[in-house]
Amino acid sequence: MGNNILTNKEHYDSLYSKTQVQTVVDKAQSFEEFLDDAIQTDTSWHGLYAGNSRNRLKGKRILELGSGDGLNAIIMCLLGGDVTAIDISEVTEKIIKEVNRQVGTSVEALTGDFCLMEFKSESFDFIIGKAFLHHLTHELEFEYLKKVAKLLKREGEARFFEPAMNSKILDFIRWLIPVPGRPSLLNKRAFKEWKDNDPHPERDNSSQHYEKVGKLYFEEVQIAFIGSIERICRLIPAGKFNRRFRRWAHRIETRLPNWFRYLAARSQLIIFRAAHI
Ligand SMILES: C[S@@+](CC[C@H](N)C(=O)[O-])C[C@H]1O[C@@H](n2cnc3c(N)ncnc32)[C@H](O)[C@@H]1O
Repeated sequence: MGNNILTNKEHYDSLYSKTQVQTVVDKAQSFEEFLDDAIQTDTSWHGLYAGNSRNRLKGKRILELGSGDGLNAIIMCLLGGDVTAIDISEVTEKIIKEVNRQVGTSVEALTGDFCLMEFKSESFDFIIGKAFLHHLTHELEFEYLKKVAKLLKREGEARFFEPAMNSKILDFIRWLIPVPGRPSLLNKRAFKEWKDNDPHPERDNSSQHYEKVGKLYFEEVQIAFIGSIERICRLIPAGKFNRRFRRWAHRIETRLPNWFRYLAARSQLIIFRAAHI
């Protein structure tokens, strides 16, 4: 196992061991209601499910990479998908198995390195990653996307929701402002301590990078810029007003010029289609 994979495994094994399975079960049991709210409000759900994709999953074979607490894999199954979920953390598999047992879903959960796992070529309609690719080094990302291209059906679609860093100035300002869980760059000692425990590798998360790497394996690459206004919510205390602000920000974003959305985006939805043969 490479260093990056091990770092992620240790970090997420420890994080998910604190996950309350009951919270995942509760959300799964009222998944329609959960999803209605999350798609309007929470950026990763808003981005991943853009374009009414919740209604495109029924009867489809779906692979999710980096499933985390397993909630999205479970929900895609409840929406009618035949879902396989992979994570490097063994806790994910345990959570999913327990939720399957309690909710009656049938997500296949696998633990380990995706590149070492065997699947039939062109066997998935969708390959999904929610906040996943940016956890890979560039070398690993090449390998993973090559395999994604091989496993997707000709008419299939890969969807990755990832952070976006398209403006060096904005990125620098971002590091200066402390947010819950991450101190300011100006607080040198605390920042170093945070950085030493951060599972993200040093890498390029610009839209240009994702477009370039995508074009190596796919004929079609589409990127939607998300969160140009919503990103301000990190400065607003958590609560009802914060959630209302986020819903408003997502709604008005579609009316803003694309150049602004590109520069100010906090996140992006990356869609790959039609693998090169
Ligand atoms: C930021 S979390 C996102 C989790 C989940 N998708 C979500 O949206 O809440 C990133 C996830 O990717 C997983 N991960 C990181 N590197 C991985 C790898 N090489 N193979 C599989 N999973 C990996 C981590 O264990 C973690 O669960």
